[in-house]
Amino acid sequence: MNLPAAASLFDMTDGALTLVVPGDPSELAQSLRVAFFEEYGVAADVVGRAPGRINLIGEHTDYNGGRCLPMALSHATYAAVGRRTDDRVQIRSRTVDDTWRGRLGDLGAAQGWAAYAAGVLWALEVDHGVDVMIGSTVPVGSGLSSSAALECAIAVAVDAIAGRALTDARRLELATACMRAESDVVGAPTGGMDQLVAMLAPAGDALLIDFHDGSSRAVPVPLAEVGLEILVIDTGVRHALADGAYAARRRECEAAAHLLGVPALARASEDSWSRLGDEVLMRRARHVLTEGERVDNADQAIVEGEWAELGTVLDASHASLAHDFEVSCPELDLAVETARASGALGARMTGGGFGGSAIALVREEHATAVAASVHAAYAARGWSPPSFLRARPGQAANAARVNVRRHRAEDADPFT
Ligand code: GLA
Repeated sequence: MNLPAAASLFDMTDGALTLVVPGDPSELAQSLRVAFFEEYGVAADVVGRAPGRINLIGEHTDYNGGRCLPMALSHATYAAVGRRTDDRVQIRSRTVDDTWRGRLGDLGAAQGWAAYAAGVLWALEVDHGVDVMIGSTVPVGSGLSSSAALECAIAVAVDAIAGRALTDARRLELATACMRAESDVVGAPTGGMDQLVAMLAPAGDALLIDFHDGSSRAVPVPLAEVGLEILVIDTGVRHALADGAYAARRRECEAAAHLLGVPALARASEDSWSRLGDEVLMRRARHVLTEGERVDNADQAIVEGEWAELGTVLDASHASLAHDFEVSCPELDLAVETARASGALGARMTGGGFGGSAIALVREEHATAVAASVHAAYAARGWSPPSFLRARPGQAANAARVNVRRHRAEDADPFT
């Protein structure tokens, strides 16, 4: 089999409507190894891989001690990593076409995209230099957790180099290290949902995480069996979580929790938001408290196969995020409204917001028509076209030692 040019493999777009496809893990890993060799002149030791995610429901609840229901995507970030004998670190991203170079002592000071990767090496206290080559089919900054996918791909790769077994306990430790990288090195005070689902996602299922006690359980979402799917609409609007608005929401929630006398806002009683004197804090708290109830309703609708009800809950979540939590934007609102008007059972923004992606629950046979309607609605406003992903459940992060030889089509997927 002839491998496509290394650079083109991670450019996964297809058709007049831009559909971002997840690609074949085995081919992507091999193409990254080729790129690693071309860049560094030696073979990589390991390729780590970690998934992006959608969050079905439970938005801005993780840092409030609440519940959320993310699902790993089959779109993932890949990191080929080679151990060095000195203390130099070189991190090349084919996704952003940039290279960070430094020494172990510089890791904590890395900036921009490189801080996510260097931050993980810092948090794991890696004591040897590494060369890293990164590629991804998770669109960067799309609200689909490209950051956690990058962090977790690096984490499992360096752990594999160290010969550590990826036990459930170690997965949790790596997720925690990735959270520290994001809060302490990147400076984005995010809540942990993204790293946990990237490290713990049960293959094929969503993951219900309860941040009150740190527990999680698999939630099967058998959409394909009933002819449904989740269409992801990437608005193309980018807004970094490190740039202040996310942290401001978090501070407001902490202030509301403090006024209500609870350690975390999700622990307050359901209608307690009405006791807050401040109008903004009231709306922030109302979102968090009603979103908790919506997570339970969505969980129940999924178990009972009440898909229309699930759609209604998704709609209600979007309204709450747009009006009470104020983290939507015109591009997300138009994607959600148009998807619904063209047949989606329900739709909402997913992830941190202020841009990024929306999800729409659609009948499989309507997916293309819904995407075409959103595309047309953007064109009518003169906005850049959105892109689309079909959300197929992926699996948690893992690492593979791939032999140094040419990829053969019949090779098994090294990540399974
Ligand atoms: C981002 C953060 C998560 C979570 C979501 C909102 O994705 O990384 O921790 O807070 O926003 O639900």
